[in-house]
This record gives sequence, structure tokens and C-alpha cells, in this order.
Amino acid sequence: MPSRLPPFEPDLARASTLPALAYTDAAILAAERERIFRRTWQPIAHAADVATPGSYVTGEIDGAPVVVTRDAGGVLRGFHNVCRHRAGPVALGKGARKSLTCKYHGWTYALDGALVTTPELGDVRDFDRSCHGLSPVRACAWGPLVFANLDADAEPLEGVLGAIPDETAGARLGDMKLVARKDYEIACNWKTYVDNFLEGYHLPTVHPGLSKELDYDAYRVETHRLYSAQIAPIRRAPKEQAGARQYAPPGEGKLEALYYWVFPNWMLNVYPDNMSLNVVLPLGVGRTLTVFEWFRHDGATADEIERTIRFSDGIQLEDIEICEAVQRGLASGSYEAGRFSALRENGVHHFQALVHAYLTAGTTAGAR
Ligand code: FES
Ligand SMILES: [Fe+2]
Repeated sequence: MPSRLPPFEPDLARASTLPALAYTDAAILAAERERIFRRTWQPIAHAADVATPGSYVTGEIDGAPVVVTRDAGGVLRGFHNVCRHRAGPVALGKGARKSLTCKYHGWTYALDGALVTTPELGDVRDFDRSCHGLSPVRACAWGPLVFANLDADAEPLEGVLGAIPDETAGARLGDMKLVARKDYEIACNWKTYVDNFLEGYHLPTVHPGLSKELDYDAYRVETHRLYSAQIAPIRRAPKEQAGARQYAPPGEGKLEALYYWVFPNWMLNVYPDNMSLNVVLPLGVGRTLTVFEWFRHDGATADEIERTIRFSDGIQLEDIEICEAVQRGLASGSYEAGRFSALRENGVHHFQALVHAYLTAGTTAGAR
């Protein structure tokens, strides 16, 4: 359990990584679900699906079903997708309707959560409908996404995102549309995957193709309270290579890819012409689902979309291979903990400090 975790050194230059048991112990994953995944903002749906009054969309956080509605007044609302009668689902998928009707026995709720009809209740006593509305869940929309948080006391998403909305304002993320989704199941702990995402240290060795596109020497990671940003300048292509490289048009001037990671488990990769969202979901202590979604502005051709996905897919397969190998190493019994590169792994250290702080204190106190 968390008490089995040794203290975590805040000084990167002196710190050791989280111990191997943090990646292999089912009790630690159970604590992470409770203390991390159920207390943080999770992207669960797409804003386009609840753009108009009368629409709803379902999703889940750590297996807990959630429904988000846009009520008649245009207010976005989140609820547990759990009927107050006997816990059936009040909504499936997504759609538009005036009310939500439970799939089990047909109790009906208004889009503001109020219980409005209860068929065939008979001569039930001491039952006040107004006390049996759907249980609220915090929800909000940002960019093309809808987020929810099971913790009523959690800091608003706005505070968590810090400068990200301003820094990405130019990309008009809110106008981007979902164009593709791909799921990958990986034989590693969710943190093995996140650790790997948070450093560019492995770029030259694991991703030689991507390395050609990015200026490795200028690659840097900036950590903020609850997120970090990897800044990867894109190399300009010589004129003769125009069209042969994925992102680099010939010419002068600054062009950057922005890789944001937001605690604990989702990333936004913002490129000049598209963005992708990666969500990292634990399926078991050594099993992780990563969901990739690509968003683009209108006007992208099928060819462009295909090219973007193919490039990203190649990188993901390289990451999966190394993450699965690392997981086997972590579980080998030979490895206790390691040291960080003080030059290249500040983002990994920052993430691990947050995980440690949430697990041991249940708050961000002490984490940077
Ligand atoms: S569980 Fe919803 S109406 Fe029975
Ligand atoms: Fe990678």
C-alpha cells in the first residue's frame, strides 16, 4: 500500500525513481484509482455531442458511468449515470431528447437531473421525488472535449490547465473536429507509459524517424504545478525534401510542436495543423489502454488524415515495444529503483512526485 512507498526526493539531481513495486503491486493500483483517477479531471466525451440544448453524452471515470447533458437553458451538467431506483443506466451512448429514461424500469429524469416520472410505483410511502434526482458530477467543456471529475472538492479544471488554453489559443482547438480514433492495449503499467511520454531522452534511440523531424538539442520539458509541456522545435526541411517530411515545411521562422501532459493520464499533442489526445487508462497493474483521438480543422483531406495517423501509429508502436520491455524489467525482481537524467528527465520526476504525493497524502501538498 502507499505506506510501503519510500519518501520521494524532491531534488531531481538526487532523486531515485518510484520503486518497481509501484508498477507491479495491485494494491498500489487500487490506491491510485481511488486517490488519483477519482479525484482528477478526466476527458470523457466530445463537446460537439453536447453543443445544443437537449443533448446528452455518456462516458465513464474509472468504470463509474457518467452522463453529461446540455439542459434546456443551455447549462452543461454532469451526473452519475445511475438511476436512483435500482442503479440502472439512465442514458446510453449519446443523443438529443427532452428527458432521460432509465433503461431498467423507465423512471424519467429531466436534463437538469430532477426525477419527473416514476411509473407504477403503487402505494409507496414516504417517498419524495424531489429527493431522488440524479446525483451530480462536476463537468465542463474545453476545446473539443468534455471533462468530468468525481471529486466534488477538486480544483476547477481551469486552474489545473494553467496557461495551456492561452498557449494553444492560436490553434483554435475548439473548432477542431474528431477525425479518427485508435485504441491500443499495452502490457505495461499505466505509469510506465506516462513516464515514457514525459521525456525526449529516448528519441534518438527509440524513434529515429521522429528524431529527424525534431530538433533534439533544443527539446525541453517545462514543468508546471499539475501539467508539463515538452517543447519540440520542428526542423525546417531543406527545399529538396519538401513534401517528404511530415511536418516541416521549407522556410524560416519558428514552428513548434507542443506536447502537453496533464496529471495524471492525458496528453494533448498540438501540431501546426492538427492535435491528438492520448488518454492512458489502467486496465490492470500490468495492462493499460491508450486511446488516441485525432482532431483537425475542417478542410483536411482523407489523405492528410491518413498520413497524420500513419506517422503517429509508427511512433506509438515503437513506444509500445519499449514500454512492454521496461515492464518486464520492472517485474523481473532484479530492479528496485533507478536514477534520473538531470538534463532530460525532469518531466518524469515531476510526474512521479505528483503520484507519490497523491498516494501518500491524497493532496498535491509537497509536490512541485
Ligand atoms: S433502475 Fe432505473 S427505473 Fe429501475
Ligand atoms: Fe516515445
